[in-house]
Amino acid sequence: MSDPHESAEELGEVVEDLRRHLLWQEEAGGRALLVDAAKQAAERAGSLRAMLGARPAKAPSGTESPAAPEPAAAVAPEPTPAPPPVSRPVAPPVSASSAPAPRAVSSEAPSRPAPARSSAAASSGMLIDVPQQAPPYPGPLPGVVEGEIPTLDQIRRELGDCRRCKLCTGRKNLVFGVGNPRAELVFVGEGPGEQEDLQGVPFVGPAGELLTKMIQAMGFTRDQVYICNVVKCRPPGNRNPEPDEIAACEPFLRAQLVALQPKVIVALGKFAAQTLLRDSTPITRLRGNWREYQGVKLMPTFHPAYLLRSPHEKKKAWDDLQQVMKIFGKQPGSRS
Ligand code: URA
Repeated sequence: MSDPHESAEELGEVVEDLRRHLLWQEEAGGRALLVDAAKQAAERAGSLRAMLGARPAKAPSGTESPAAPEPAAAVAPEPTPAPPPVSRPVAPPVSASSAPAPRAVSSEAPSRPAPARSSAAASSGMLIDVPQQAPPYPGPLPGVVEGEIPTLDQIRRELGDCRRCKLCTGRKNLVFGVGNPRAELVFVGEGPGEQEDLQGVPFVGPAGELLTKMIQAMGFTRDQVYICNVVKCRPPGNRNPEPDEIAACEPFLRAQLVALQPKVIVALGKFAAQTLLRDSTPITRLRGNWREYQGVKLMPTFHPAYLLRSPHEKKKAWDDLQQVMKIFGKQPGSRS
């Protein structure tokens, strides 16, 4: 016989689960996820009621899910840009402060010697599916002292008032990254939009609001994760970043990931996924499948801006994020 207190607690979690889904759903007014959440919650509530010996609740009307449309191409497949690879070892998380605006944790820590590459990473080699299109990166990564793991501050200082590509001419602020420098979960987007350019902080515009809801729905706060982009300066008119711009900026992204040493990377959209994986497979096929980036688990998923345009795809993105949540032992509705 089940404990009624436990059952009530579970019911509370179902409600919390639904609340998080609704928060996320609110943004774009899409219905697929809402319907899905309502169904899941009803099913779970139904089994809880059965456990409690109560009568089944009446099915709410108008919650039938329309057949999910076939995935539309989020973005046209494009050749993968050819930035230089990182030759740094995989290492456990290190203390490092974010720049320019550390949030939850702000302690600066000195660089630490890089531990030996993990055997998994060593045996898996480059972990990419497509041939190298660029020669190996010739020298140490930006901000990296040979043999040491950099801090985010060191990398930010190395970027300085960056003039390495043409995006510098139109930018108002360089957008480095934000969040917890000890984050185990890192989100990588494409590049700053208008709001991000104005504020110098990634994902603070409309797509950022949706990303924040996605993060919260996963049971995290923005302060617990780290968020950055492939390119650090806004492409004019929000056009796609060009290969030379990605090539100029990507070493800094790779250095950030070396500094962060996360447990999981979520690649948001085509540019993040294809750049990090060096795989030109369309995001519609990359998404939802675990990959590895330098020995770190990487989950490609749709970009929030795409989800704003195509809210019916949110369900798929939520499925992807739930796979990530499992790694962290988080259930939909868990509050830790
Ligand atoms: N889109 C991105 O890819 N990054 C941002 O920071 C904002 C919008």
